[in-house]
Amino acid sequence: MHRLPLVSLLALTAAAPLSGANAPAAAIVEKFQDHCASCHGPDGRARTPAGRKLGVKDLTESKIPEAEVVRQILDGAADANGKPRMPPFREKFTADEVAALAAFVLALRR
Ligand code: HEC
Repeated sequence: MHRLPLVSLLALTAAAPLSGANAPAAAIVEKFQDHCASCHGPDGRARTPAGRKLGVKDLTESKIPEAEVVRQILDGAADANGKPRMPPFREKFTADEVAALAAFVLALRR
């Protein structure tokens, strides 16, 4: 029997090159889950311990324009004393990835 355990099948699926109309969305959902959801929550509503502690804004209620969303992802945010609140992602993501994340964040709005 050469049955792969389910976890390694899932890992293979996740690592496989994506194609088709839904692929970028799937990849970007995963990025949001991996890098943003700890504070912003999987649905962007910030109902997580870190989200509550930091007073993270509900992304579904956000009104800032797309360019500001992009800037926020690139530069992160600090409070008035320069204490980091959200990390910058400039070094982590390509411009395309940032644009896709910004589009994802905008799509969370109602
Ligand atoms: C360590 C926690 C943390 C992580 C991780 C994090 N954020 Fe944030 N984010 C914040 C906080 C806190 C704010 C509010 C900053 C402020 O204005 O004081 C914020 C604000 C934002 C805003 C602006 C919302 C508005 O209306 O002003 C956007 C957009 C955003 N984050 C997107 C993202 C994305 C996309 C990721 C992942 C790539 C991410 N964040 C990861 C904590 C985090």
